Amino acid sequence: MAQVDLLPDSVDAVAAGLRGAGYLPGPSTALVAYLAIRLGKPVLVEGPAGVGKTELAKALARYLDRELVRLQCYEGLDEAKALYEWNYRKQLLRIQAEAGDAGWSKVQDDIFGEEFLLARPLLAAISAERPVVLLIDEIDKTDQEFEAMLLELLSDFQITIPELGRISATSQPVVLLTSNNSRELTEALKRRCLYLWLDYPSAELELEIVRLHVPELADTVTRRLVEVIGMVRELDLKKPPSIAESIDWARALLLLGAEDLDATTFNETMSVIVKHRTDVELVAERVGLALA
Ligand SMILES: Nc1ncnc2c1ncn2[C@@H]1O[C@H](COP(=O)(O)OP(=O)(O)OP(=O)(O)O)[C@@H](O)[C@H]1O
Ligand SMILES: [Mg+2]
Repeated sequence: MAQVDLLPDSVDAVAAGLRGAGYLPGPSTALVAYLAIRLGKPVLVEGPAGVGKTELAKALARYLDRELVRLQCYEGLDEAKALYEWNYRKQLLRIQAEAGDAGWSKVQDDIFGEEFLLARPLLAAISAERPVVLLIDEIDKTDQEFEAMLLELLSDFQITIPELGRISATSQPVVLLTSNNSRELTEALKRRCLYLWLDYPSAELELEIVRLHVPELADTVTRRLVEVIGMVRELDLKKPPSIAESIDWARALLLLGAEDLDATTFNETMSVIVKHRTDVELVAERVGLALA
């Protein structure tokens, strides 16, 4: 296997590295990332929408200076899109070129070689010369058959292609799987992974994150924004605002030149953070009134 170029020697090193890459890790994030890199185990990252699951993989790739290979999952995703596909056109051309001269068995030997394989993200990730970061995003959107297919890859870092046999990894990727919990994942998959639950951050951490993304916003407004977001999350909403919404809101307030977050500004810009009609009513009533 190729040498892993950067191996952090402590949890603190990973935390500092992620920060350097523009990602502010919560309490267990750096620890789990450190273990994943050192133990070579995949991480299953779960949590509500917009709390930084996908961004963590991107930041790890930046920090470790590795290529990010991303597989976006969706319903009906199959091996041909995720793993590999035979390059039918090229195979056909070879068959035509060899027609007449060679018997079928010779042609068959020829057309099922690596030369005729189209590597999709999973195969590309384990056959890369330098180790990569592999992000399998929103794994809960696929079906259980797909999960079963992933198991061989995640536990042994190899895949089996019927016509070619076993292909072992030339380099071992750091693997992150993310899930929004839209369905329960299988125990078999979970057993092979480390687990990281990302939740809404503490007020201090969120303040830091918003400052990092929108440093130009007046600090009083940023503080107020984080406080109000916290109040909104306390309500029983269909979709509570995430970090992504906090950042969007900060950007909107900056653009509008808001100097304070009073009831008027709040009511005018609330649609940046709440996106269901019933939620809007509830938030306007509870938080809007509290601010007035
Ligand atoms: N700890 C963090 N440090 C810096 N930025 C963060 C952090 N967490 C989240 N963000 C920012 O919040 C936004 C949303 O993050 P991301 O897209 O990774 O969320 P997600 O959990 O993958 O959401 P979804 O489930 O909807 O895909 C991004 O712009 C990201 O940069
Ligand atoms: Mg995501």
